[in-house]
Amino acid sequence: MELIATPKPLNALAANGSAVEHIKDRSNYLRGNLVEDFHNPITAAISEDNVQLVKFHGSYMQDDRDVRLHRQDKKLEPAYSFMIRLRVAGGDLSADQWVKLDDISNRYGNGTSRITTRQALQFHGIIKFDLKNTIKAMDAALLDSIAGCGDVNRNVMCTPDPTLSNLHAQVFPWAQKISEHLLPRSRAYHEIWLDEAEGKTLVAGGEAEEIEPLYGKHYLPRKFKIAIAISPFNDMDIYANDIGLIAVEENSKLLGFNVAVGGGLGFTFGREDTYARLASEIGFCTPEQVLDVCFHTVAIQRDYGNRADRKLSRFKYTIDRQGLDWFKQELNARLGFDLGEVRPFVFDTTGDRFGWRSTTDGLWHLGLRLEYGRVLDNETHRLKSALRSIAEQNLCGFRMTGNQNLILTGVREEHIDAVESILQAHGYAADASHLSGLRRNSIACVALNTCPQAMAEAERYLPDLITKLEVSLDKHGLRNEEIKIRMTGCPNGCGRSVLGEIGLIGKSPGRYNLYLGASFNGDRLNALCRENLDEAGLLKVLDELFAAFTAKRIEGEPLGEFVTRCRYVRHPATKGK
Ligand code: HEM
Ligand code: SF4
Repeated sequence: MELIATPKPLNALAANGSAVEHIKDRSNYLRGNLVEDFHNPITAAISEDNVQLVKFHGSYMQDDRDVRLHRQDKKLEPAYSFMIRLRVAGGDLSADQWVKLDDISNRYGNGTSRITTRQALQFHGIIKFDLKNTIKAMDAALLDSIAGCGDVNRNVMCTPDPTLSNLHAQVFPWAQKISEHLLPRSRAYHEIWLDEAEGKTLVAGGEAEEIEPLYGKHYLPRKFKIAIAISPFNDMDIYANDIGLIAVEENSKLLGFNVAVGGGLGFTFGREDTYARLASEIGFCTPEQVLDVCFHTVAIQRDYGNRADRKLSRFKYTIDRQGLDWFKQELNARLGFDLGEVRPFVFDTTGDRFGWRSTTDGLWHLGLRLEYGRVLDNETHRLKSALRSIAEQNLCGFRMTGNQNLILTGVREEHIDAVESILQAHGYAADASHLSGLRRNSIACVALNTCPQAMAEAERYLPDLITKLEVSLDKHGLRNEEIKIRMTGCPNGCGRSVLGEIGLIGKSPGRYNLYLGASFNGDRLNALCRENLDEAGLLKVLDELFAAFTAKRIEGEPLGEFVTRCRYVRHPATKGK
């Protein structure tokens, strides 16, 4: 389908556009002077303008915060390096790609890779002078990092588990189609990193339409996220997205998608006008209509989003400022048809399934629990080497989940033993049943030492905190209870803490705000329970909560429902859904 060329002039708020708007404006469609800056031998960093632009190419400049003060004392510049995030719609990689990506992490990265909460894979610790080689190596694996970060539509997610329903094979390609449809068209990435010759064809007066038919010269006011789920599994946390699509079937045939809009989890401490919001269900569209629905929704945000204050520029604020009814009318007008009524569906869970399961074609799929998506070898196991060996023998495909886990897909029955024995030989259990329910359902964002926004630890601390909480769980007979806990180093929301039955958001080193009461199926946010707790405080409050839960819960009641029923927290007025 052709993109419809309708970029409008910058919206009214752009007269006083934020600094990033001006950087985009003078960037010549995301080129800036990235080429020169990445060759500059004087520093391991790049300029502030280019820090913003390189995000659109999938990379963040970071510095090692563990050594920041030490280097400052020694009058050295911070230990700069780059994180790069692949675009992998639906999280699907072949065995050959896995091997090539493993090579990249060894050769250019810090020897690990990380599966993100949006089904992408990212590498840390790449030095400036290796970024181009990294991107070239990704290209050789038929992968790119375009729109990995930046003010554009990001990695499109899709329920990855092929064992869930026959619908899966019909739905999955739509994630790829939407991703391609909404991809920036600028050739900047190919010119800068892949040495494609500069070859712009400008039409007088029509520059923006020619180069970026959807985004125009200023791209979006802020990032944009889309996910597709197949009920009853909300493993994509679709209400956390700017657009959430829920596949609807009839007799195992894909009828279309319920459409939800305006989700977004990040907020800023001390800014009461910022908040987490769950997406609102607005209607239904057929598969043939879904690309247009996504395109025009993005275009409305392009035209009406706030470009003055980046803290208020996500689509959720546009929807609340303009009104949901206004949005529906605007969307229908641009589409030239009205969305249908939302079709009935249910969501049971946001969790992943672990262990072996089969599909009707006789193939087997192994859900593997990873600790916060980190693919590495350490003193307890050698997961990275195990996965490489499995990939080298071409025993399966690789699907990343939205909960930082991995599914080894399409294993032939005669290869099950081989996969199991490779994992075993590397000290990794194929099955997660030995882990507590709390650990199985835990998510942590990266936070320290690489994330510049982090105020407290997350990935490096949550495993230890859970070990301490397991003492409490054992005491109250809750070891196997499925409880969803999520920790982030700041309120930006990368680990979806505000959708945890227990949510922990970093305030300062060693201190967290405790949030309770999100639903297990992801359709209700949690609410603030206690502020600024240290570890002793957290363990005490949660031990008391677990005791009360065991004593007073209704049979089968999940923790999030118990907390809500017993009014441990007062949920804020419902935004969105
Ligand atoms: C103002 C808002 C936000 C900012 C400035 C921000 C910034 C960042 C940064 C710097 C990282 C890289 C950390 C590292 O690798 O060291 C990161 C990771 C990530 N962010 Fe955000 N983020 C924001 C909000 C969100 C939200 C709301 C989501 C999704 C719900 C999200 C999803 C992710 C994901 C999937 C990762 C990859 C790492 C992981 O899985 O933990 N981000 N973010
Ligand atoms: S939630 Fe905050 S600390 Fe965690 S990765 Fe995102 S920006 Fe960094």
